[in-house]
Amino acid sequence: MWSRRVGARWLRSHLSIIRKFGVLALLVFIVYSQLYLFHSGGTNETLKGWIDSIRSEQKLSSAEFAAYLYRKMKYDTSPNWIDTYTLNENLLTLPLGPKQGTKLRSIEELRFYESDPRLTWSVLLEHLQTAEAERKENRVVSFSWYDWSDFHMFNKLVSLQEVNFGCGFLYETAFELTQLEAIEKEINDVLFISDRLKYNDPKWMEATRKKEIERNDPVVYPESRCRRYSDKSRKFNLPVEAHQLDEQCRPEVFALQTRSYLLNHYKNPISLTLMEHDNSSYRVFVDPNDRSNIQQSGYLKSFLQKNGVTTVHNDNGNGNGRSGKKNPNVVFDHWKQYNIFLQSNTANHYRTVIPEIDKVSYDRDFVHLSDDLFEVNVPSIIEELESIENPNPHDKEYLESLKISRETHPALASKFLSEAAHITQFNGMGYHRDKRFFNGALIHDPLEYQLRLNALIRNWLKFTRSNGLITWLAHGTVYGQLYNGLTFPWDNDFDVQMPIKHLHLLSRYFNQSLIMEDPREGNGKYFLDVTNSITVRTSGNGFNNIDARFIDVDSGLYVDITGLSVSSTPLSDKLTSDYKKFSAIFDSKSYAKDKKWPERGEGLASMDIFELQNYTADHSDKFSSDQLKKIEELVNHERNFQQGTDKPESGSNPNERYWTNKELKAYNCRNNHFVTLELLSPLTSTVFHGVHALVPRKVAGVLKNEYNLPKQFGFEVFDGKAYLPALHSWFNYNVLKRFANSNSWNTKLQKIKSPISKLDFPDIKLLLDNMLKLGYNDLFTICYNAFNVTSYRYKEREIQFDNSSSKNEKFKLLHILRNDVAPQLSSPGKDPYMFNYERRMWRKVGATIGNTIMRAIHKAVETQASNELWSSYVATHEGRSELFITRNELGDVEIDLNNHGRKITEPNTILESDPF
Ligand SMILES: *[C@@H]1O[C@H](CO)[C@@H](O)[C@H](O)[C@H]1NC(C)=O
Ligand SMILES: *[C@@H]1O[C@H](CO)[C@@H](O)[C@H](O)[C@H]1NC(C)=O
Ligand SMILES: *[C@@H]1O[C@H](CO)[C@@H](O)[C@H](O)[C@H]1NC(C)=O
Ligand SMILES: *[C@@H]1O[C@H](CO)[C@@H](O)[C@H](O)[C@H]1NC(C)=O
Ligand SMILES: *[C@@H]1O[C@H](CO)[C@@H](O)[C@H](O)[C@H]1NC(C)=O
Repeated sequence: MWSRRVGARWLRSHLSIIRKFGVLALLVFIVYSQLYLFHSGGTNETLKGWIDSIRSEQKLSSAEFAAYLYRKMKYDTSPNWIDTYTLNENLLTLPLGPKQGTKLRSIEELRFYESDPRLTWSVLLEHLQTAEAERKENRVVSFSWYDWSDFHMFNKLVSLQEVNFGCGFLYETAFELTQLEAIEKEINDVLFISDRLKYNDPKWMEATRKKEIERNDPVVYPESRCRRYSDKSRKFNLPVEAHQLDEQCRPEVFALQTRSYLLNHYKNPISLTLMEHDNSSYRVFVDPNDRSNIQQSGYLKSFLQKNGVTTVHNDNGNGNGRSGKKNPNVVFDHWKQYNIFLQSNTANHYRTVIPEIDKVSYDRDFVHLSDDLFEVNVPSIIEELESIENPNPHDKEYLESLKISRETHPALASKFLSEAAHITQFNGMGYHRDKRFFNGALIHDPLEYQLRLNALIRNWLKFTRSNGLITWLAHGTVYGQLYNGLTFPWDNDFDVQMPIKHLHLLSRYFNQSLIMEDPREGNGKYFLDVTNSITVRTSGNGFNNIDARFIDVDSGLYVDITGLSVSSTPLSDKLTSDYKKFSAIFDSKSYAKDKKWPERGEGLASMDIFELQNYTADHSDKFSSDQLKKIEELVNHERNFQQGTDKPESGSNPNERYWTNKELKAYNCRNNHFVTLELLSPLTSTVFHGVHALVPRKVAGVLKNEYNLPKQFGFEVFDGKAYLPALHSWFNYNVLKRFANSNSWNTKLQKIKSPISKLDFPDIKLLLDNMLKLGYNDLFTICYNAFNVTSYRYKEREIQFDNSSSKNEKFKLLHILRNDVAPQLSSPGKDPYMFNYERRMWRKVGATIGNTIMRAIHKAVETQASNELWSSYVATHEGRSELFITRNELGDVEIDLNNHGRKITEPNTILESDPF
């Protein structure tokens, strides 16, 4: 719990930081602006006492700390921690539960702990160094999902000492109220936040738990699904274990189920991949059979011993057996430890090297793709893998997978990736969450939602770049990028594509790896999952449109990854004119006549759809009726196609189509989207969410094949959303109309002088102020934190479409933008782990300082941020933004990009065409 004493300690340890960043000046501003605020509010007594206390004590008061914390939580996206993690104040002090605040004497007493990255990283890195020193041959580490995923809500239940519960708690539609209340009473906290208030409404409760209420007897859950334990001394676990997932329940219930399932049942990842910025990565293999967490494995103990902690004996646990000597208060400094690791020999041992990849080519302004990236010779890969004497676990898994995939007929591939599609009362949003890693609704927490998505795509891009794996933004994701360098705020996932060759490399090196962000940049953790039918390149039964996913293990949100390759998929209508031109000079029938059909696999997969149908006639017992139906459907489809005349490749068989598509250089994903090499290559390097990303050479060309692209870049309304170019953002149109004060609906708001569709520059300030006055604070935070990233995209476009300079001149400027400006961009969103960490702290602090002061802090911090953001707008508008100025070591201006590029004014037609 935060207190004045803790505040003083915090002040001592942070004074230098505060001075450095002039936060103290901000705080004085806050204090005085509140004095002013409170004159009318009637609570100035409290405030005066508070100010007096600062004057006399010359240290941070609780309100000052709160203001600093609030500012950091909302407007500082740097990865710096607000405090240090220590043995005594963190690990051994219970952070929650009935005994919150109690100090344990040793780690043996831990029944639960929070998976703080500082703790887990420090311990893991120390262990790797030890293993290196001992020259262990078979270096695998133990692993528990408990250490590498969010178990906050789960831990609240582990902390219980009195209240008990059974399997029903994890499987019923909603929690049972008396039980929930008993739990919350014991832990003196809510179990969850999202929708918690709904539980207090008896009518809602009755409707939601209808199934449970109508059924009188308690359900007996089979052991295969859920097991119950009576042993009260169980650590790091609940009295029940989920062994099978069943989504027919509300999000908070399912979240608990998935955590229990992960912890007790879901297999270990094959490896941990540690990222170094966006330029290297390190793979550590995981013992598939050792599920112990850092306490159970002894890693934690040996970390502490290395740091001078002698084991404290704990006689019978009754507290009389102190060893006398006081242990040092160990600091878990994982950044320091990571720096040491990276410079050590140990790092060399784990560094990932993909011999097939030339990482340097990735670092250019344009990345040229050759056509051989879009075909893979699977039999030769299998042969190569089989010749490896001691294949590592990733190679083994990949080889196994290829063999299975080679025997999988497109019509028969079973669905591989699974979404939490059937969660009760979740508006179908479960379709956008991986089932295993689902961790709560999130839809009611728009800020955290945006932060998670932001971290997710940043990490995918950093991860692929650090390994030279080629990927580019596709579909809605690249559409969003086109506007302001960010995803559309209403999108729930990301779409990226890769050439098939790199999808294979991704699988071979990282399938089933838990990929971790460089801890000096953030705390993201992602699981990579690739389907088991990677060699199937046509849609077939349509169950596996997505090839792979990069999944946030703390939320289940993901990036959809699709491979592009040559296949026999009939060309899309959009490519009719390309095809017509090509077929005039290319005779597919004679060309393919003597060629083998490369898509033929083995077993059932060696047959085309007609042969498969013949086979089922004699072996119908081997197929389900659904499968037979599907095959029938595909046979009819193929027959009609071969007899038809209305499609680009009508009349041709799969082998002919394969060779035509190959020669035409038209590639497709398993969802029948086609892109030509001409539209793709060379990929253009740009920035998305503040990190380097690649987009197709002809973005407008690609998008026009998929969407109704508008012609003009400007104010735009689409499906209830509006793009406001002046604010660099999309808004819900109704929300925008509110803070634009259209029709002067609210007399307390300022009235903008220009129409929102043609906004005058000074009105931006009014919009920002109104946004805050109406309480759209999260929206404002997003605009503030994204300002530089969106400005970057604006500048890029201004240079790209500047018709007064030559192409070479533009390339030169864009090169400077990319190399000198882009690396300065901070993330447009805060790290989600840190955000939650600080938010929990803020809630505790809030409880001690009271609502009135809290509101005053909101107001003061936001007023300041709004002034800063406005200054940034003005500086950019007046062509003196620091962001676009590069300086040498002496601080002299080297290049000033402020004066380059053409301001995009309306009317224009720049969305219609590609710049190069
Ligand atoms: C990788 O990135 C880090 C952080 O920016 C940098 O210090 C390091 O020199 C880079 N290493 C290579 C090989 O480029
Ligand atoms: C990826 O791993 C999963 C799980 O082990 C496996 O089923 C799948 O076949 C693998 N995919 C590839 C392409 O290696
Ligand atoms: C399927 O079986 C029929 C009858 O035996 C035969 O005429 C036809 O050629 C077979 N089709 C294929 C593609 O094997
Ligand atoms: C550049 O484009 C603008 C807007 O499309 C147009 O008004 C102007 O004439 C063009 N200038 C040149 C030199 O082509
Ligand atoms: C944008 O970047 C500039 C230069 O790095 C920085 O001074 C400014 O504070 C940033 N603005 C915002 C709103 O983050």
